[in-house]
Amino acid sequence: MTDAVNKIEQPRGPTRRDFLYICTGMATLVGAASFLWPFIDSMQPSADVAAMASVEVDISLIEPGQRITIKWRGKPVFVVYRTDAMLAQAREDDGNPALIDPATDSERAPRPEWLIMVGVCTHLGCIPLGQKDSDPRGPYGGWFCPCHGSIYDASGRVRKGPAPRNLPIPPYAFLDDHRIRIG
Ligand code: FES
Repeated sequence: MTDAVNKIEQPRGPTRRDFLYICTGMATLVGAASFLWPFIDSMQPSADVAAMASVEVDISLIEPGQRITIKWRGKPVFVVYRTDAMLAQAREDDGNPALIDPATDSERAPRPEWLIMVGVCTHLGCIPLGQKDSDPRGPYGGWFCPCHGSIYDASGRVRKGPAPRNLPIPPYAFLDDHRIRIG
């Protein structure tokens, strides 16, 4: 009985060897952190990139019917001030079962006269034509991708592939009636 009791390991405090292990572990962690820091730090956006995370656009000088392109995070963003006729055309196919990527125009443009989209084809990333009056726009009055022939309608919805999805809507907000912030 006495032997059995004596064989039970008693909890012990940290020994000198434990202390050395702990010190070694901490040194390794500190070493790893200082080794990783340049990489972690290089992943932080630089000040100029952070500044481009959002852009403000003065829309007060855009004429009805005009399409302008601004740059946001290195991508073109199409801003269109739509007339009633353009709006009517954009809404014409709301609910059309043939839409490749179904969406209503009001889902894509909550403030209907303004259509704001990333101007990058969802197939392989070309920039669709249609921003200039002289550009080909396809049969739906929208945009035409010259790379492989995708066609987008007046709401930026893809109507003919190979593009699989509509032109994306970036995050944006109206700061007032004359300014929008994108990003
Ligand atoms: S990149 Fe636009 S259709 Fe291929």
